[in-house]
Amino acid sequence: MGSDERLVADFDEVSEQGITPAMVSGAIAAFLRTLATPGSRFDRWLEGDDAALTEAELEGYRLFKSYGCVSCHQGANVGGNMYGRMGLMGAYFADRGGEVTQADLGRFGVTGLAEDRHLFKVPSLRLAVHNAPYFHDGSAETLADAIRLMARYQLGRSISRAHVRAIEAFLATLVGERPRPGR
Ligand code: HEC
Repeated sequence: MGSDERLVADFDEVSEQGITPAMVSGAIAAFLRTLATPGSRFDRWLEGDDAALTEAELEGYRLFKSYGCVSCHQGANVGGNMYGRMGLMGAYFADRGGEVTQADLGRFGVTGLAEDRHLFKVPSLRLAVHNAPYFHDGSAETLADAIRLMARYQLGRSISRAHVRAIEAFLATLVGERPRPGR
């Protein structure tokens, strides 16, 4: 532990213990807690508040389901509970161009199994509106680009601009309240 000078200095600043395995896992846990943002408008709608979403946002939710995004981005966090192959329905890496990097190999880098090439954790979309640029390689600059590329490479479908916009509006309803620091 401790070959990165900046990290060592940062940990020294916040604790007398400095950088230790326990401090690092504590810091990561504190960060992860900031990603749980309950009470989003979508949550309120699920709990029965019909007025929590607009008609356009609801249309986005319907499209998100009917295109099949939910086959991967599923569950309470709208993702985060399975792996998916990037480029399931199209040659994503060939079309993107550039070298195929170690990071592009995804889970293969962890397991070394051929069937894990280009397998990535399906990300939660709860905070997607704040996460640009998108994908493991940051290749999609905007959320609209990410939605279009997902339709093409994960579902083998083209998608109209109006549908992209509606899905974007739906995804924006997933952001809830940020927890207060220090909890
Ligand atoms: C077959 C599984 C699958 C389907 C279907 C799918 N996705 Fe994805 N999605 C993924 C995976 C895997 C990633 C991560 C890819 C990467 O990092 O390279 C991802 C990433 C994303 C991201 C980027 C999130 C981020 O923080 O970088 C967005 C936005 C997204 N998907 C939206 C959608 C939408 C909208 C649809 C439907 C049109 C959809 N996805 C359909 C598996 C899928």
